[in-house]
Amino acid sequence: MVRQHVNPLSVLYQQPLALPSPSDLFAQPCLPLHLDIGAARGRFLLAMAERCPDRNHLGVEIRRPLVVAAEADRQAAGLTNLHYLFCNASLNLVEWLQDLPPGLLQLVTLQFPDPWFKSRHHKRRVLQPALLRSLALALPPGGTLLMQSDVLAVIKPMVALVEASGCFERPCNDPVPWLETNPLAVATERECHVLAQGLPVYRVRYHRRHGPVGGLGNEQDIHNSCVTTQA
Ligand SMILES: C[S@@+](CC[C@H](N)C(=O)[O-])C[C@H]1O[C@@H](n2cnc3c(N)ncnc32)[C@H](O)[C@@H]1O
Repeated sequence: MVRQHVNPLSVLYQQPLALPSPSDLFAQPCLPLHLDIGAARGRFLLAMAERCPDRNHLGVEIRRPLVVAAEADRQAAGLTNLHYLFCNASLNLVEWLQDLPPGLLQLVTLQFPDPWFKSRHHKRRVLQPALLRSLALALPPGGTLLMQSDVLAVIKPMVALVEASGCFERPCNDPVPWLETNPLAVATERECHVLAQGLPVYRVRYHRRHGPVGGLGNEQDIHNSCVTTQA
């Protein structure tokens, strides 16, 4: 039985991790990269990798047993454009994103993140300013960030953070505030579960704008938001 939530701010998940580079992960490392943050059991990304062989797909997940199971599925499917890695995305992706070859990252999906409802737990939410800044730095102009949640109180602050960054804009034809359908061909497991119950899904898509990254704090702010410890 896999625990439903882990606290990403506990010391166990605050360790530095040297994540492998795309050339260590994929048979064709120069293919455009899709990064799925909070990939869970990985079935969404496995289906995406089968449907989109012209991209590499990397799923990151903080619950190690899910990563082990997802990797076993990947090996059984013989897919060389797919990988899953254990990490705390809020912390460990920051450096990894900095080291990516420019222009490689084309799509980031952040779907149904753990809600952490209590305000004293909001720092446990995966999308923190440091991660968003690193995504903005790594995504080339036109690169896509797709976010989904079934909880308005979760996605609204994500949208506010993304919009306050000044680094992203909605594609001009996308409805505001929410997309009615998923622009991707595959639904996530949580999405299927929510839709099967007839509940709403809140989706928003952004493209990286041209221009420098500002408005998301300096290096010290970023460091502080990453290493804040909380029991
Ligand atoms: C509610 S599940 C959604 C899974 C999947 N995206 C979906 O839509 O079906 C959120 C996932 O994000 C993972 N997660 C939460 N915080 C994380 C973090 N800091 N780094 C990586 N994964 C995280 C959780 O362990 C969980 O598997």
